[in-house]
Amino acid sequence: MQTVQTILEKHRVSDSLAQAIHCVLDCSKEISVLLQKGAMAGVLGSAENENVQGETQKKLDVISNDLLKERLAECPVVAGIASEEEDLPVAANEDGQYLVIYDPLDGSSNIDINVTVGTIFSILPSRGEDPSKEATYLQNGRQQVAAGYVLYGPATMLVMSTGKGVDIFTLDPTSNEFVLTQEQVQITPSTKEFAINMSNQRFWAEPVQTYVSDLLAGEEGPLAKRYNMRWIAAMVAEVHRILNRGGIFMYPWDNREPNKPGKLRLMYEGNPMSMLVEQAGGLSVNGEINIMDIEPEKIHQRVPVFLGSKEEVEKALSYHKA
Ligand code: AHG
Ligand code: MN
Ligand code: MN
Ligand code: MN
Repeated sequence: MQTVQTILEKHRVSDSLAQAIHCVLDCSKEISVLLQKGAMAGVLGSAENENVQGETQKKLDVISNDLLKERLAECPVVAGIASEEEDLPVAANEDGQYLVIYDPLDGSSNIDINVTVGTIFSILPSRGEDPSKEATYLQNGRQQVAAGYVLYGPATMLVMSTGKGVDIFTLDPTSNEFVLTQEQVQITPSTKEFAINMSNQRFWAEPVQTYVSDLLAGEEGPLAKRYNMRWIAAMVAEVHRILNRGGIFMYPWDNREPNKPGKLRLMYEGNPMSMLVEQAGGLSVNGEINIMDIEPEKIHQRVPVFLGSKEEVEKALSYHKA
């Protein structure tokens, strides 16, 4: 049986980074228990307040955020944290070497219907800079020393990279350990499956309109393939499907909020997922460049996302360049 620790040692990850990862994973195990208890733990439903993203928070958005915030503050290697649910970054430990950036609960519209949600994390070096300042966190995705997500589905699973490929673990409910179940996954380069929220079609820009209508045209269209479509409304679940059987996931810019470059967040969602996808041989772009090459200007910055099977993402990109 290989555990997270076995793989971290195999990849020669430093003890301090391993500790930061274990702190995140300890929280995810607690979140997993709360999700399994669901209504019995009184954790479902709305928290009735709005977060910095302009979204109404679910109780579990708040609970999982508080849990991570409190535990990571006690994790000596963590210098500071930034969260989708926090207005500002929070300083943690003076001697900490890492910044932990997270989406405590991804796909929170799925909570109340007992469908997959997840926790996404991204770990950056703190480089001795002030962890209470936003600027300290504004590092591009290439600086990530680790990234991953924990998916709370039929099984609780961990998908993680420390820059040496992507490994997948399953939480064994008996031992409460994440056990290695897929080593070094690779995304198949070609696909016949796409994921996009079609209800936003009328709001998309022209290149996305054309690309998606070509996907829908099937064998008779210019792409000469019959595509299938999936939409789970949780990026963790979409990325998980793509890691396992290929596909393209898109959350493009749309003109519902013309001044924001899309719905998804660069630091909490875009960068960590892009690291996993690239480490598994896939591609992740904003329609112009690789997401991890974007120099962030704000901690809550948004980003258009096209990620997954390399050949399909290149195709989507070619519509933007045309
Ligand atoms: P979050 O729950 O962390 O706010 O993120 C939800 C995101 C992402 O996981 C998913 O792909 C997308 O929003 C779903 O958006 P729609 O509501 O447009 O389907
Ligand atoms: Mn949210
Ligand atoms: Mn999210
Ligand atoms: Mn979230």
